[in-house]
Amino acid sequence: MIAIGSDHGGFQLKQEIMAHLDELGLAYKDYGTYTEDSCDYPVYGEAVGRAVSSGEAERGIVICGTGIGISISANKVKGVRAALCGDCYSAEYTRRHNDANVLALGARVLGPGLALKIVDTFLGTDFEGGRHARRVALIAELEERERA
Ligand code: RB5
Repeated sequence: MIAIGSDHGGFQLKQEIMAHLDELGLAYKDYGTYTEDSCDYPVYGEAVGRAVSSGEAERGIVICGTGIGISISANKVKGVRAALCGDCYSAEYTRRHNDANVLALGARVLGPGLALKIVDTFLGTDFEGGRHARRVALIAELEERERA
């Protein structure tokens, strides 16, 4: 299952991504926002982050105007590795090397065509493991030390 969420700035792109996931037959859950009324991106970054962190969702997609505020917010949830991607190369390599579990997009930065390609790349690429697993484990260790 894919957890998806946005603030008002990402609302329209979220609708387009959900329609795309429907076409692909991929299961998702919409964590809001549900209207274009102004709202606060940390609420939705946290909701998607918690869905991924708890294992309820395998991956997450978060969207705000720039993708920055909501990615910072999602990354505050333990176990979340949210990657803000504006191109397919970054989307591919953040899966291959960082095992990113949340994709962040900037709806006011990207056109919908590129955004959907980035989503496809992110969802269709596996983690390589090996030396990259050691580095991802170091991120988790850093997170533990910060919380101690
Ligand atoms: C909302 O106006 C905007 O600040 C938000 O969508 C996002 O870009 C924040 O990082």
